[in-house]
Amino acid sequence: MRPETAVIGGSGLYELFDEVHGEFKPDTPYGEPSAPVTVARVGGKEVAFLPRHGAGHRYPAHRIPYRANMWALRSLGCRQILAPCAVGGLQPRLQAGTFVLPDQLIDHTSGREHTFYDTGAVHINFADPYCPRLRKSILETANVAGQSLTDGGAMVVINGPRFSTRAESRGYAVQGSTVINMTGAPEAVLAREMAMCYAAIALVTDLDAGVQGDRGVTQDEVFRVFASNTERMRQLLMAAVGALGTGPDARAARHWTG
Ligand code: ADE
Repeated sequence: MRPETAVIGGSGLYELFDEVHGEFKPDTPYGEPSAPVTVARVGGKEVAFLPRHGAGHRYPAHRIPYRANMWALRSLGCRQILAPCAVGGLQPRLQAGTFVLPDQLIDHTSGREHTFYDTGAVHINFADPYCPRLRKSILETANVAGQSLTDGGAMVVINGPRFSTRAESRGYAVQGSTVINMTGAPEAVLAREMAMCYAAIALVTDLDAGVQGDRGVTQDEVFRVFASNTERMRQLLMAAVGALGTGPDARAARHWTG
């Protein structure tokens, strides 16, 4: 059992699995991952699944043990990660229910354990935070599966747990971000530091406070919209996992990690 592909996502995606092979809680130098890693067969491939918020959403975004999560997946053999997440739209065209495949990331988080390199001088290349091979594969499968997906855009990651003020939200849009979320960093950074291919698959659950005139974003709408689109996300992930390369292909992060 050596799953090369991992999905880090919400609990509603568990039904992705055809045949569960087991649950693993690898020991890591950074403590326990958010939850046990479930390894199962999906479309003929071994896939590891880790709910990033843990059981019952016990870890808010700023408390997720990101380093333990990435270490746990890598130690099980994972080399490529699909990372579904909920985002707010920063442009009126990005209505709830839209899938976005970001190609850039702006990290506005603070106070999180955001690197494995706490000693020495190690400066990784992070110009293109998402793996082009994974992005291409996801785009192609989305087309085949008839799911429309907005290709590209910058995801700004805020610390939370509160949502943004209208002024902050407008500022992020002016700076060039198109979607906003709370978990995209340092997850993507740590994946890169471990030379794992990583791509975020964002589902818009709301229009952020700067784009809509009424009451602002509520937690209820974020959870409700994400839950009501779980089946679409699951289908997209199943198709993407089926189309991904394995073996040397899955390990070919070098061409892009710099
Ligand atoms: N996750 C989903 N919607 C969000 C928003 N509007 N801001 C930050 N994180 C989010």
